[in-house]
Amino acid sequence: MAVTIEQELLKAVSKRRNFAIISHPDAGKTTLTEKLLLYGGAIHEAGAVKARGEQRRVTSDWMELEKQRGISITSTVLQFTYNNYHLNLLDTPGHQDFSEDTYRTLAAADNAVMLIDAAKGLEPQTRKLFEVCKLRSLPIFTFVNKMDRPGREALELLDEIEKELGLKTYPVNYPIGNGDYFKGVFDRRLKKYHLFERVAHGSKEAPEVILSPDDPNLEKYIGDNDLLAQTQEELEILDEIGAEFNLEEIHTGKMTPVFFGSAMTNFGVRLFLESFLEYALQPTPRNSSLGQLEPTHPDFSGFVFKLQANMDPKHRDRVAFVRVCTGKFEKDMTVNHARSGKSVRLSHPQKLFAQGRESIEEAYPGDVIGLNNPGVFAIGDTIYLGQKLEYDGIPSFSPELFCYLKNPNPSKFKQFQKGITQLQEEGAIQIMYSVDDFVREPILAAVGQLQFEVVQFRMLSEYNVETNLEPLPFSVARWVVDGWEALDKVGRIFNTMTVKDGRDRPVLLFRNEWNVGQLQADHPDLKLSSIALL
Ligand code: G4P
Repeated sequence: MAVTIEQELLKAVSKRRNFAIISHPDAGKTTLTEKLLLYGGAIHEAGAVKARGEQRRVTSDWMELEKQRGISITSTVLQFTYNNYHLNLLDTPGHQDFSEDTYRTLAAADNAVMLIDAAKGLEPQTRKLFEVCKLRSLPIFTFVNKMDRPGREALELLDEIEKELGLKTYPVNYPIGNGDYFKGVFDRRLKKYHLFERVAHGSKEAPEVILSPDDPNLEKYIGDNDLLAQTQEELEILDEIGAEFNLEEIHTGKMTPVFFGSAMTNFGVRLFLESFLEYALQPTPRNSSLGQLEPTHPDFSGFVFKLQANMDPKHRDRVAFVRVCTGKFEKDMTVNHARSGKSVRLSHPQKLFAQGRESIEEAYPGDVIGLNNPGVFAIGDTIYLGQKLEYDGIPSFSPELFCYLKNPNPSKFKQFQKGITQLQEEGAIQIMYSVDDFVREPILAAVGQLQFEVVQFRMLSEYNVETNLEPLPFSVARWVVDGWEALDKVGRIFNTMTVKDGRDRPVLLFRNEWNVGQLQADHPDLKLSSIALL
């Protein structure tokens, strides 16, 4: 019997899981990514992910900046399979100076993995990214890493997550010791001890010994009766006072399943991966102008969540990353572009695999495809077949750094304008303008310092314009929800600057949160928002 498109989609969706890793720099994101790829058979030796980075550096001059700074600016999407599941890992840049790309990537994810360093616990960037996940009620899977190093007590870390993030925790596995005494983990759901042997830098999968709690060899393997007794005591405490496993609460982002391990030595990576596949959400329905659309909706649709320019300097190509939301994508298909109303042929689609880019023939909901973008696509754009629809906009979060971008050379006026317009369209940075007519310079608004450097670098290398930055003393932006009329009523506001964003919407720049509070106290009717939709 012929398989209908709905049946085909149902099957594909049930086998897909899509996620992003949120963490603070140095927690081990690169290492964990590498190990997931290793277990998924996408690479055969750990180290390949970094090699890919090197490879990219030699092929791309815009990566020159990455080389100078020794960091990774752009995020990529990695696809791999495990036990017949297709996993899409949306990689977010790991550097402290993260950009809006990081936030946007989370808009395309269905699940998040929160990676924590066992010795450090929650760190600033993790908290910030957690807030974005919370806004979308994303399921969050916690991996406490570096258990092979002396770290904080497991119960204390769980407590920190509960108190500071307001998330219930359910440790799916629980560590036996830490640092030099780390012996493995206890799988609380299947009631088995997983004891690990250390492998040199974890370049191959870790050998595991699995024992029941009543196995006579347990003590021999752990080799420390006090440690075993202490672990059992803590497990009893957890059983008594800890929360019960609740999949629905996990799916709605209220409870986080917690895993302990060591990505570097592969401890706990397989257990994590297998539980993740069991508990993670499959590609979810998305809100659109037609209401919530199930991924099994037969017509293809998706939205652009990230643009990346000049990955290959020889072609000066631009890639638009599209999250497939419904239907099936096929190479060379012609789709409708909601914003312009035009039809676009999607040729040369790419998927980003562990070892580089390769062309794809088809893709399903939950997948991410890279499309050649000859200036057609902008962040948040919807492409679709069938009935016209548009997906909800991607939130743009309050920038924290503001600078005038100056062009000291009037003869470069045209190139300067062109560069600014294109970088803005691409979403590389938010650009605002003062409402005072005599100030013509664009204001760059960023969430991280690095975004300024990227803009200056690209203005010079792609548009041949040298630029200067002049910092502005603001750190908070608020969109005026009710528009310009509301501002007219309020009149001139002390200590703030009124600007308009790329869509001519009024935005107020404040020196600090305290000033925002002051204005709100004086004008309770004025509706302000820290988030705007692109
Ligand atoms: P990031 O992408 O989150 O920034 O972190 P990355 O994976 O680069 O890891 C940061 C450092 O932490 C690396 O050490 C890495 O080897 C180490 N690391 C990651 N996971 C573990 C773990 O489970 N246990 C231990 N002990 N260390 C871990 P590095 O010295 O900066 O680099 P390298 O010389 O090891 O490559």
